[in-house]
Amino acid sequence: MRHVISPLDFTVEELDQLLDLANDIEHHREKYAHACDGKILATLFYEPSTRTRLSFESAMLRMGGKVLGFSSASSSSAAKGESVSDTLRMISCYADICAMRHPKEGAALVGSMAASIPVINAGDGGHQHPTQTLTDMLTIRSLKGRLDNMTIGLCGDLKFGRTVHSLINAMVRYPGIRFVLISPKELRIPDYTRENVLEANGIPYEEVTSLDEAMPKLDILYMTRVQRERFFNEEEYIRMKDCYILDKAKMALGKEDMLVLHPLPRVNEISVEVDSDPRAAYFRQVQFGVYVRMALILTLLGIQVQ
Ligand code: NCD
Repeated sequence: MRHVISPLDFTVEELDQLLDLANDIEHHREKYAHACDGKILATLFYEPSTRTRLSFESAMLRMGGKVLGFSSASSSSAAKGESVSDTLRMISCYADICAMRHPKEGAALVGSMAASIPVINAGDGGHQHPTQTLTDMLTIRSLKGRLDNMTIGLCGDLKFGRTVHSLINAMVRYPGIRFVLISPKELRIPDYTRENVLEANGIPYEEVTSLDEAMPKLDILYMTRVQRERFFNEEEYIRMKDCYILDKAKMALGKEDMLVLHPLPRVNEISVEVDSDPRAAYFRQVQFGVYVRMALILTLLGIQVQ
């Protein structure tokens, strides 16, 4: 039995297999329609979510499985003081696999230690979000045809954005990857990511504040929302919230084959006028998120479809 707490829980070869499986699912949906008959997925969401929870549920339902769970801490026994460990021990009696989101960093790891079913980290505070990273990787590989040799611009809240942390962790394992980290000084990537991930792996990167200057260099622009819920005070959030707004004028500075990704939800960091640009890939990314979660559920349950 294995859990997925960080993108590094898979080797590069395993990731390739998982993305291949997701591609096969995309092109042969009917083959997988009953792959999870009789299986149950639990979604334990202690923090708000639309896409991640519903894409997990959709993934399981599209393979014939069933789902149960809760979508807020207040509607679960957490409100009565139950620990994550106790909840996970119990959920192991109700389901075959679970996806869990929690506001505290490390909660999924703690939960996985008490569980006797595979636990998937669907976001733990400002730490990691491995299944968003799988979604991002499938999107990039499908639309660009490769995961190596490219310049990835990460823009916005790089301090609290867990999708950014997981994506950096995963992509440093591919040759020829360079990062342009675009953020205000206050929202730069955490020191541990800079030192233990980028510098430790000898990855070329630059930290800049100007999106305009970065634009022409980028093969991928990964926009992120300023993570209001992780700020210590509202004033600081208000000062930061409009730090970058991607609009048509900025898009004009980008390469013709650049892709714009965003884990969503967006607030105002991508103007709606950009949605019709062929380089805007964030809604296609949502569809890839279902295929990759289908592939992940099959892999963790050890189900092979001929
Ligand atoms: C992200 C998250 O929850 O970290 N959303 C998602 O899962 N697609 C990004 C965000 O909330 O800004």
